[in-house]
Amino acid sequence: MKAILCTQFGLPETLTLEDAPSPTPGKDQVVVSVKACGVNFPDTLIIQNKYQFKPPLPFSPGGEVSGTIKEVGEGVKHLKVGDSVLSLTGWGGFAEEVIADAATTLPIPPGMDYVTAASVMYTYGTSYHALKNRAQLQPGETLLVLGAAGGVGLAAVQLGVLMGANVIAAASSDEKLKVCKELGASATINYTTEDIRERTRELTEGRGVDVVYDPVGDRYTEPALRSIAWKGRYLVVGFAGGEIPKIPLNLALLKGCQIVGVFWGAFARNEPKESQKNFQELLTWISQGKLKQHLYKTYSLAESPAALRDMLDRKVVGKAVVII
Ligand SMILES: NC(=O)c1ccc[n+]([C@@H]2O[C@H](COP(=O)([O-])OP(=O)(O)OC[C@H]3O[C@@H](n4cnc5c(N)ncnc54)[C@H](OP(=O)(O)O)[C@@H]3O)[C@@H](O)[C@H]2O)c1
Repeated sequence: MKAILCTQFGLPETLTLEDAPSPTPGKDQVVVSVKACGVNFPDTLIIQNKYQFKPPLPFSPGGEVSGTIKEVGEGVKHLKVGDSVLSLTGWGGFAEEVIADAATTLPIPPGMDYVTAASVMYTYGTSYHALKNRAQLQPGETLLVLGAAGGVGLAAVQLGVLMGANVIAAASSDEKLKVCKELGASATINYTTEDIRERTRELTEGRGVDVVYDPVGDRYTEPALRSIAWKGRYLVVGFAGGEIPKIPLNLALLKGCQIVGVFWGAFARNEPKESQKNFQELLTWISQGKLKQHLYKTYSLAESPAALRDMLDRKVVGKAVVII
C-alpha cells in the first residue's frame, strides 16, 4: 500500500510517499481502507517529535479517518468487513490502510459522506467538551474564541452560536473573520490590527466576556484573560501560537475567574459514557443540518505534506482533508 511516511523527525517537507507493508489487526483491532483523513494541528507536532504521543519511526501522520473495514481482529464484535466507519487512530491515516482500535471506530451515520466523517469527531468533539462540560456555557453569555477560524476554533464559534451564546471571534485576518461572521459570530476582533483587551471592553460595554476559548496561547493569552468578566471561565485548549504562556495568578484572584484545562482525549478515555453522549448530540445536530463542517480544501495523499505546511502557515480556515 502507499503511505506518507515520517522516517525522520522534521517539518512536513521531510515526509515521503512510499510503498509500505499492509498492516495486520491485533486483538480488538481492525484494518481500515482509508477514504479520507482529517488534518489536525497535532499532525504537525507528531512529525516533529513535539506531541504527547510518540509513535516509533517510521510512521504515517493523520489521526482521524473514514473508510471501509478491510479486516477485523480477534474479539471485535460490533464491526465487520465492508462496514463504512469513522475512527480516531492517533496516527497512520495518511495511508491507504491503517490499524484502528475497534473501541474508537464507529459506523458512519446514514447519509454522511466520507469527507464529513473524517472531519467532525476531533474538532467538534473537543470544542463541545470544552464549552459544555468544562465551561458550562449558558444561553445569553458572551464567548470569546481565539484562533476562531482554525479547526477547533471555528467549531467553537459554531457550537457557541448553537448553544445560544453571543460569540466574539478573534483571528489574524479580516478574510478569516468574514467566515466566522458567516457562521454566526456576532462580533469580531482582528488581533493583528486591534488590541484584544480594548476591543473586548468596547464590545461588552466594559463588562468583559464570560468564557474565553483559547487554542492559541502565546502572546494572546494574557490580554484575553484580562478581558474576562467577574466569575468568567478561561478554557486552556492549546498552544498553536508556539509558547506556553506564564500567567500572573493574581489575575484569577482579581477576576474571581476559573482557569480551566481542556483535554478531550483524556475525557473520552476517563468518561466514555459522557463522551458518547456528546457524540450523539453532535451527530444529531449534523444530521439535522444545524452543524456543517467548513471545508477549506481537499488534498491528495501525495499532497498531504502540503496540507500540513498550509496548517503551519496559518492558511487553513476550518478543515483540511486528505482524500485517499
Ligand atoms: N486540549 C485538547 O483536547 C485539544 C484538542 C484538539 C486540539 N487541541 C489544540 O488546539 C490547537 C489548535 O488546533 P487546530 O487543529 O484547530 O489547529 P488550526 O486549525 O491550525 O488552528 C490554530 C489557529 O491558531 C492560530 N495561530 C496563531 N499562531 C499560530 C502559529 N504560529 N502557527 C499556527 N497557527 C497559529 C491560527 O489562527 P490565526 O492565524 O487567526 O491566529 C490558526 O487558525 C492546537 O494547539 C491543538 O494541539 C487541543
